[in-house]
Amino acid sequence: MGRVSTGSNVLDLVLDGGFLAGGLVAITGPPGSGKTIFAANWIHNGVTKLGEKGLYVSFVEGYDSFSEYMHSLGLDFEKLESEGKFKFLEMITLREAGVQAILEQILHEIMDMNATMLVIDSFSAISQVIEKPYDTRILAHMVLSKIVRRLGCTTMILIEKMSGEEFYEPVEFLSDFIIHFDKTEVDGALLRHLKILKARGTEIRQPHLAFTLKGGFKAFCPLILGGLREPEKRFRLVQHYGDFYSSGIKDLDDFMGMMFRRGCYNLLEVKGDVTLPPERILRATISNVLNQGGYVVIFPPQGLSALTVRKSLEPFVYENFLDHNLKIVDFRAATVEKVEPYVILLDGRSIKEDMICFWNAVSEFRKKSDRPIFTLVGFDTLEYVYGKDEVLKILGEDLAKTRNLGDVRLNIVRPECAVADHLRSLANAHIVVRELCGAVFLQGIKPKTPLLNIEVHTNGESEVKLTPVL
Ligand SMILES: Nc1ncnc2c1ncn2[C@@H]1O[C@H](COP(=O)(O)OP(=O)(O)OP(=O)(O)O)[C@@H](O)[C@H]1O
Ligand SMILES: [Mg+2]
Repeated sequence: MGRVSTGSNVLDLVLDGGFLAGGLVAITGPPGSGKTIFAANWIHNGVTKLGEKGLYVSFVEGYDSFSEYMHSLGLDFEKLESEGKFKFLEMITLREAGVQAILEQILHEIMDMNATMLVIDSFSAISQVIEKPYDTRILAHMVLSKIVRRLGCTTMILIEKMSGEEFYEPVEFLSDFIIHFDKTEVDGALLRHLKILKARGTEIRQPHLAFTLKGGFKAFCPLILGGLREPEKRFRLVQHYGDFYSSGIKDLDDFMGMMFRRGCYNLLEVKGDVTLPPERILRATISNVLNQGGYVVIFPPQGLSALTVRKSLEPFVYENFLDHNLKIVDFRAATVEKVEPYVILLDGRSIKEDMICFWNAVSEFRKKSDRPIFTLVGFDTLEYVYGKDEVLKILGEDLAKTRNLGDVRLNIVRPECAVADHLRSLANAHIVVRELCGAVFLQGIKPKTPLLNIEVHTNGESEVKLTPVL
């Protein structure tokens, strides 16, 4: 059997190319989980990109409301209908007609227009249109035997079903594919996710995918399937404005509104299950400051060496700025190579003495520039090296220095750290990095934002793009 695209390149990747052509697909999920949008996107993609012909049978709404709804998501079905490639069948006022009449009408339309794709929205709503409940089961069998198996029309049936519901519609046993749609909350933000429950003839490596309905259905690519590839080019510059330093990610500046203001303490919290290396998360921000002639001092998170951090920046920062505008902390005991001029070498014994070295490096830069110095401090490293009590002793001074000298600070911490709570409450802006269903998201906690999926686009220059889960 051939495959027919699901309408999502990520889902196609997971399903070895898509659904089985001529097969039966069940989409289950609670109200508002995205079943109708997914099904409409599937048909629209098939008709516009693959030369298929589609029939949409709705037991829940009329054509006007459907087409207006889809128009708001950028899917133009009226054009496809006028070209004879799409048809919408309203089945909302058929109380007396009975199963036989409904089925005959569907069959007639399929043969009349040579439809190769069929959506039935929804199976659960049929029982409201048909007088006798057992008719629904007869319909299921007739749909399957006549439409799917005989006419070879790929059929998608939508089923309203709460998550964890034990009851199975008989049609689910007969389906080649079952995908369950759902939504949950993650720290106050909406997460939409789907689970592949059944996929005949397909090995599923990644059964969970996160998705958004913003501008139609879009699944987010997990890292293990090649999501968030290494950027090929330098990042497009994002201008700073007034008292604010840009995060280097235009979309993030827009969502957060207040990043990174002069004299402010900001926090990036990296959740424990994030596999994306921290230097990759921070690269766009650091290179954006450096490439505009700004000065940066880094106390690396997660015990990263100065060399690792500098190497990760090399392809993205002009050499001149890399050599003259950047200093990175390293520890004497952990240094194997000769000490480069960009390194601030610390003993790791006294946090007071070491922080004086760090602040001195910042002061040196401040003499060269009247712009705020951008400092990044991995408080996880600080805590591991000196212990929580020692870190708390310098926290007040560190905060006061940042505020009074008008620098811009981004602190980095893991939630397991004992100092994390202090940093959270002191932060002017607080962002969390998470991995959900294998894909990487940013989420503003202060101020609140939706979950924002991270992608890197390259078009001449590289650019980090964020897509909200809506
Ligand atoms: N223009 C839009 N942009 C983004 N999201 C939208 C838009 N319009 C609707 N939504 C979201 O889509 C959800 C509804 O999706 P959809 O109609 O596909 O759900 P459904 O699973 O078919 O629900 P039901 O079982 O009630 O028919 C809404 O809850 C809303 O959050
Ligand atoms: Mg619906």
